[in-house]
Amino acid sequence: MGPFTFSVLAVVAHACLISAEQQPLISASIPHLPIRVAALGDSYSAGLGSGKFLSHSNDGRDNACARMDGSYPWLLSKLNPFHIGQGYLPNFVSCSGNLLRDIDSQIEALDGKRFDVVTLSISGNDFKFGQAVVNCVYPYRLLPGTRRFEKACNDTLTKAQNAIEDPAKWNNFTKVIEKMKSEVLTTAGRIYITGYAKFFAPPRENDACDSTYFFPRRLFAALPMKSATRLRLNSLVDLVNSKTQGKIISQFASSVAFVDIDSHFTGRRFCEPENDEDPIGADNPNVWFNDLTTTLEEDSAWNPETVTPSPERDPWSAWALDLPESVKNDTEIVGRGIGDNLQRASTFHPKKAAHILTAIKLGNMILEDFARQVSSPV
Ligand SMILES: *[C@@H]1O[C@H](CO)[C@@H](O)[C@H](O)[C@H]1NC(C)=O
Ligand SMILES: *[C@@H]1O[C@H](CO)[C@@H](O)[C@H](O)[C@H]1NC(C)=O
Ligand SMILES: *[C@@H]1O[C@H](CO)[C@@H](O)[C@H](O)[C@H]1NC(C)=O
Repeated sequence: MGPFTFSVLAVVAHACLISAEQQPLISASIPHLPIRVAALGDSYSAGLGSGKFLSHSNDGRDNACARMDGSYPWLLSKLNPFHIGQGYLPNFVSCSGNLLRDIDSQIEALDGKRFDVVTLSISGNDFKFGQAVVNCVYPYRLLPGTRRFEKACNDTLTKAQNAIEDPAKWNNFTKVIEKMKSEVLTTAGRIYITGYAKFFAPPRENDACDSTYFFPRRLFAALPMKSATRLRLNSLVDLVNSKTQGKIISQFASSVAFVDIDSHFTGRRFCEPENDEDPIGADNPNVWFNDLTTTLEEDSAWNPETVTPSPERDPWSAWALDLPESVKNDTEIVGRGIGDNLQRASTFHPKKAAHILTAIKLGNMILEDFARQVSSPV
């Protein structure tokens, strides 16, 4: 199955997403779904780096959490003909940088309300993906601590892998789902967990990326993007996705579903063979991850909450600390400068194009689940 073979409903939904103001194409035959939606999770759900900041959520924390109008929960709420959401998502509580343990406070922010559809993206920060990107993709020669960059990268990848293989983390993930089921889900409601996507095309030894430095100033760049590192990063993403399905989805099959976001990135990752001229493709519309130098749509400042900034939550702040001002603020690298909070944190996050497909896929799954419930009520 190719990345674009969704059902007819999804195609119609896509048409309506693009022209949301126009008349629904088949309104007479499609039910108005009484679906209440909430969105929980981390930056992959908030949509960090995918558009403009939102400003409508009940908790007033859209900027602090970097919730954006290119995020899949927001786009899902706009799948108009089916009324999945109301074109508006007041119960959007996802927050960039959040860990499994932060879901408790996201649940609290929902004030005891219950929802038919709850979307969730979580665990990437617990599994140290941000730190891995900092240490393996964007290290630079003035970074404090070790000068043995390759070892620091390898060690971070090993730590990430150990965390993913730690059963205690998955027990905590299980507890999060149990709490969500008992406190925010309606009886027939469903939680849709979106996975993560592999960052790199299948690595080939000595391909163009093997000698490509992702840090944008060659003088300071410390590590080329070697195929062995890409392979390991990709396999960690696969491991999180497969464990999420094996350890979480399988336990709660009647009320929790997995949404694969990886397959629609096929051909849209960093280091695709057809992009050998520019293997990063920061502003290439066919590369669906942001790079450190991607031109972002948002032009205002992001003020993340810095309650207890820890490397676990924000590995990028330590990264930026020793960056020379001349590089940090160089507007020739990118308009905002790579020292900018939003610029750094958006790195290795999906662009809006990817979120559109996630929203369509999710909308399609919700409709199929709804149709099944209608034909065999619980
Ligand atoms: C890092 O790991 C790669 C393979 O994943 C290995 O080839 C390389 O020697 C390691 N480097 C160091 C410094 O440990
Ligand atoms: C699991 O959650 C508890 C409670 O939040 C926490 O103390 C513990 O460190 C977590 N375990 C892991 C492995 O993250
Ligand atoms: C670099 O940018 C920061 C934040 O915009 C600013 O506070 C600082 O003064 C700038 N430094 C230089 C040398 O322009």
